Formats: sequence, structure tokens, C-alpha cells
Amino acid sequence: MEFDCPSTCPFVAAPAAALDFPVGQVRRLAPANPVATGEVDETKRNVQKLLVAAGVVGAAGGGLVGGSLQYAQPPMIGATGYARVQLLDLDGTPLTVTKLEKEYNANTDAVLTFNYPLRNEPNFLLNVAPAPGAAASSGAINVLNGVGTQKSIVAFSAICQHLGCPAPAISYYPAGTCPQTPGGKPFYIHCSCHGSTYDVTNGASNLTGPAVLPLPQIILEVDASDDTLYAVNSVGPPVNGHLDTLSGDYPVGNSSQLSQQTPIRLCNIG
Ligand code: FES
Repeated sequence: MEFDCPSTCPFVAAPAAALDFPVGQVRRLAPANPVATGEVDETKRNVQKLLVAAGVVGAAGGGLVGGSLQYAQPPMIGATGYARVQLLDLDGTPLTVTKLEKEYNANTDAVLTFNYPLRNEPNFLLNVAPAPGAAASSGAINVLNGVGTQKSIVAFSAICQHLGCPAPAISYYPAGTCPQTPGGKPFYIHCSCHGSTYDVTNGASNLTGPAVLPLPQIILEVDASDDTLYAVNSVGPPVNGHLDTLSGDYPVGNSSQLSQQTPIRLCNIG
């Protein structure tokens, strides 16, 4: 059905002005001269108000989120430097070099660990001197950074530098534990997780991968006055899983007691 459209009908009087924008789009037609007519563009003013309000809310919200994030982040804990930490025996008494050299050697099955410099950073304490009467090749003396009467007492991180397997999955292997002798070394530290091996005579450098970094070595010191043993520093890369060796937990304090590990030993050496 059709209706007659009067001459005042906008679709007749000004069809071009009415249809020069897409169908469905709402458009407000501005007066010919808004200033002269004194008409205010309410749409424009409302949009400006919304923008100002959004800016205020955004700024306030951003401040709140930023403030919340500041307090949501855990504080970085760690130590400001390497302390001189006394090593204690399994029974809590000060460990002496004399006792260590008497009870432990390169053939010892059980493995000793102590935490240093932080509470969650375990380290092997090894005496790699050959057992009394054993072949010289089953151990070593005068090793890198070794202390004690034969420079054979060393300490290394007990967290693998590959993917971070800790002791006892990574452990010391006395000579003859496995048929393989990586790099010609019959004794070494080996990680049973994926087969990395480390040279205990040379700063725990890599013998086989997949690890490509040595284990951090703990620098030991003997107090000549009473034969006691101290951890004083760390050299090499950071402990695996730590931004640096001094970050990630609280310091151990003035002393650190040994604990004994029963090693997990697999001969999966690459
Ligand atoms: S975690 Fe030690 S070899 Fe992979």
C-alpha cells in the first residue's frame, strides 16, 4: 500500500540530505549555524564528559592496580654477601679436618651435604683422597681449591646445572661404580636424571652433558687454630634455579650442619 507524501515530507523535500549516510547509521544533523542559533551539540558534550570520566577512573584504577602489584610481589630475600659459616658434623659438633679425613675418602659410599650460603642451597662435602691402601687413581689429591692436609677436601653445589635435580638424584660416584669413565675419570659427580657428569678434581667442570655449566664450587677454609672447617665463598655459575647464588632464601646463619644422603646411582652416562 502506498501513501501520498505531502510536499513537506523530508523524503521528498530533501532526499539527498536525508540519505547520504549508510542505512542504519544514526546521525544528528547540525544546524546551519550553531553559534548563531545558540544550540549546543549535546552528543559532543556528552562524549567529552565520558572521556574525562574515563580518564579519571583509569588513572585511579591504574594507581590502585600498580599499588596492589607493588605489595603483591614477594620481597626479594637473600644475603648481601658470603658469610664465613662453620661446618658442623652430623652430631652438631664442629667438624674438624682430622675427623673428616679419617672417616671420608674417595671410596666412601654415603654422601655428606650442607646448606650454604642460603638455606635451600645444598652442597656436597667431599674428601676425594684415595682410601688408605687403595690405588692412587681411585681418588685425587691437590685438586682445584682443595683444602686439608692433601688438598683433597672440596664442596660443590648438590643441584644439577641441567634441570636442577638435587641430591641424592645427583651424587658422587666412587671409582668402579659404573663401567664408564667419562673424560678418563673413574670417579665423578653424576646426575641420574639425564646423565650429566662433573669432574670433582677440576672445579666440577663438565665431563658429559646435557649440562653445559659446571657446578658452583664452595670455597672452604680451615681454621689453623683448631682444625675446624668453614665455608666462605662460592665460585662458578649461580646455583641452578636462583637468579644468583645469594638470592632466593634466607642465609643459613653462622653454622651449617651436615646431613647424610643415600645416593641414587644409575649408570646412564652419555
Ligand atoms: S637434571 Fe641433571 S642431567 Fe638433567
